[in-house]
Amino acid sequence: MLEQLEALEKEAILAVEQAADLKELNSLRVKYLGKKGPMTEIMKQMGKLSNEERPLVGAKANEVRTSISEKIQDKQTALEEAELRLQLENETIDVTLPGTKVTLGTTHLLSQVIRELEDMFIGMGYKIAEGPEVELDYYNFEALNLPKGHPARDMQDSFYITENTLLRTQTSPVQARTMEQHDFKNGPIKIICPGKVYRRDNDDATHSHQFTQIEGLVVGEKITFSDLKGTLTILAKRMFGEAREIRLRPSFFPFTEPSVEMDISCFACGGSGCRVCKGTGWIEILGAGMVHPRVLEMSGIDPSRYSGFAFGLGPERVAMLKYAVDDIRHLYTNDLRFTNQFAAKEMGE
Ligand code: PHE
Repeated sequence: MLEQLEALEKEAILAVEQAADLKELNSLRVKYLGKKGPMTEIMKQMGKLSNEERPLVGAKANEVRTSISEKIQDKQTALEEAELRLQLENETIDVTLPGTKVTLGTTHLLSQVIRELEDMFIGMGYKIAEGPEVELDYYNFEALNLPKGHPARDMQDSFYITENTLLRTQTSPVQARTMEQHDFKNGPIKIICPGKVYRRDNDDATHSHQFTQIEGLVVGEKITFSDLKGTLTILAKRMFGEAREIRLRPSFFPFTEPSVEMDISCFACGGSGCRVCKGTGWIEILGAGMVHPRVLEMSGIDPSRYSGFAFGLGPERVAMLKYAVDDIRHLYTNDLRFTNQFAAKEMGE
């Protein structure tokens, strides 16, 4: 029996040593030390032994049991350590690997131009006004002296939503909305309104069915054409350089009288004629005029006491001219190769 126990011990220890993982080790524990294992089997035979032999075999059995269970414990610790080491190795972070780049967004060129103009006008005491993009026919046309059936409505092909609502074709309806609300006890009107406008146009390099405008409106006592001219001169110089001169050509808008279009002397050639100004030395920039007395009247303002001027310019045109953008669609398609070119400018470089 003693030999039996010794053989069992050897066998068990060998098996434990060779165990590949914790799972296998656990089944060995059950196999050799469990209730149904060989140890139990041997103990059952103890009764048959003589009184001298019994304590010897009993002691040996305990010894073998302890030895096997210690061996299992050691192996378990070893396996657990190995497992932990492996896990740590797998989770090691190589701090020398290049990281994932975090890219910062930039302000869109169009927004940059709009902000620059906003800053400039705020500096001259203007307030920023807003109006709805889905506009009433009344404000977009009628209150601006464009009654139904007026031929000048055709100048701006419109997206109608219902008979009386449309996507605004210009920011000028904000003129009417502002005048209607204004109380001259609070001083004169001095607003600009940047915003999106919509026209039924086929998109190409210079046309877009959606674009932006900045409307300007000043109404008060003794506001004259010279005020308009002075304001536009400042605008032109600030946007395109101190050397710019302006030229006002007679034009027509139903809501201004007289109406003008403003050209600036070409910033590329200085006026001698080049590709940018198509050889004329001048570049058309915006439409403007003195607010039509009928428009003042329709908004409840007395034209014998108050007068004013208005202008409307396209930030797209300013951006395209200043940065030689050859296709208006670049401003809307958000190709990062395009938009990122204007990141440095924002950082003031
Ligand atoms: N709303 C006009 C346009 O879109 C521009 C304009 C605004 C003209 C204000 C005169 C005064 O063409």
